[in-house]
Amino acid sequence: MKNDGNPYVPYAATVEDAWYETYGERSIKTFRVVFDDKEVRENWEHFPGQCAIIGILGVGESMISISSSPTEGDFLRFSVMRMGKVTQALHQLEAGDKMTVRGPYGNNFPVDEWKGKNIITIGGGIGQAPLRPIVEYVKANKDDYGELTTIYGSRSTDDLCFRNEFENMMEDESVSCHLSIDVEEEKWPHFVGFVPTLLMEVNPSPENAIAITCGPPIMIRFVLENLKKLGFEDDQIYTTLENRMKCGIGKCGRCNAGNLYVCKDGPVFTYAKLKEVPEAFA
Ligand SMILES: Cc1cc2nc3c(=O)[nH]c(=O)nc-3n(C[C@H](O)[C@H](O)[C@H](O)COP(=O)(O)OP(=O)(O)OC[C@H]3O[C@@H](n4cnc5c(N)ncnc54)[C@H](O)[C@@H]3O)c2cc1C
Ligand code: FES
Repeated sequence: MKNDGNPYVPYAATVEDAWYETYGERSIKTFRVVFDDKEVRENWEHFPGQCAIIGILGVGESMISISSSPTEGDFLRFSVMRMGKVTQALHQLEAGDKMTVRGPYGNNFPVDEWKGKNIITIGGGIGQAPLRPIVEYVKANKDDYGELTTIYGSRSTDDLCFRNEFENMMEDESVSCHLSIDVEEEKWPHFVGFVPTLLMEVNPSPENAIAITCGPPIMIRFVLENLKKLGFEDDQIYTTLENRMKCGIGKCGRCNAGNLYVCKDGPVFTYAKLKEVPEAFA
């Protein structure tokens, strides 16, 4: 990287495109951004699961998952839920506006180790943001992997993130794609119920498989229980933690869960690792 490994260096980037995924008080907006400096753009390297700190000068910065796969091109995507000061300001940005990006931060999903395996992603709400790069990475390298199964749900159709992409995947015979909403709605042709229940309907085999789940803590809790019922071992299951962070590089102690620094040791963990740290589920 051009920053010589200095994670404090923010780079100027331009929003190429921006669109709402969902609307309402906690709306989600996706930004497709490119670094202004050609050298930074060409030397930037990240893997599925990593994050970046994105910001607006004079406002502040937030840790956000990189929701694009490096296989998609020389740009980054961020899907941002409107929460407080920084994310509200980010939501004002449109194509042509500037933001800062530094990173990448954290470890990544070990996509190389997973070669030859069946991959199952199980997401809920904004939790699909760190899962999307896995899906895109596996799709782009499909000869290296077994079957790809994506399971995703949200409260209602208004809360479905990446809806068009999921609907396209449903037409794609190489992906087994399953969608749900919590409560029945007119003209909804897919599953109605919670994501952990949909997981049991899909009933993926644990044989030669890896399951990755991200979403609200309550969903993750029941997905983990159901994966165990399906016969998955703890080291076949991955998730991410999103503890609040400050420095992002293991210096300030803000993100601790027991002896883990989520920013440095994570955000990606196996269930086997998290079981050693009860505070991770607090
Ligand atoms: C590793 C990691 C990856 C993340 N990826 C994404 C992502 O892809 N998309 C996305 O929209 N958000 C993501 N987040 C959360 C995001 O960083 C925060 O929502 C954001 O920083 C809030 O900033 P703010 O100034 O808008 O809100 P603030 O004013 O700081 O907070 C507003 C409200 O949000 C809550 N909040 C802030 N940060 C968090 C957090 N980390 N977890 C739970 N609640 C929080 C606060 O408690 C408060 O109630 C991620 C966080 C981490 C640590
Ligand atoms: S955010 Fe500072 S130690 Fe993790």
